[in-house]
Amino acid sequence: MALYSEKVMDHFRNPRNVGIIEDADGVGEVGNAKCGDIMKIYLKIAGEKGSEVIEDVKFETFGCGSAIASSSMATELIAGKPLSEALELTNKAVTEALDGLPAHKLHCSVLAEEAIKAAVKDYYDKNGIAYDPEKFREGDEPHCCGT
Ligand code: FES
Repeated sequence: MALYSEKVMDHFRNPRNVGIIEDADGVGEVGNAKCGDIMKIYLKIAGEKGSEVIEDVKFETFGCGSAIASSSMATELIAGKPLSEALELTNKAVTEALDGLPAHKLHCSVLAEEAIKAAVKDYYDKNGIAYDPEKFREGDEPHCCGT
């Protein structure tokens, strides 16, 4: 069996939503200290407070192929969705949508989940919107790459 699924290869070779949003409402950047990979997510938010929708999302990822594929898939999963749904996106959902990642690459998908959460938090902070800090708690697992 191939190490990477066709979907991973597709999103790696033709990543969706690459770029920056100049007037983004929320920006989140996370990095993996071990491998040095960095992921940045930009969100454009529309709608009333409390029922916001992700109007646009872009990403920049300086990292491995799995991180790029995860970012691309994650942006597709949250584009046009309510902000509250984006906040619930897990790295597991991203991995499943990619038809899986090798075990030693699962942490790369964690970057996507965390970058989205960081961007949503940035939006909340900038707009003085109260939130449950538990939703933004960092995971217990260090995001070790090993590559
Ligand atoms: Fe560092 Fe994938 S995010 S190897």
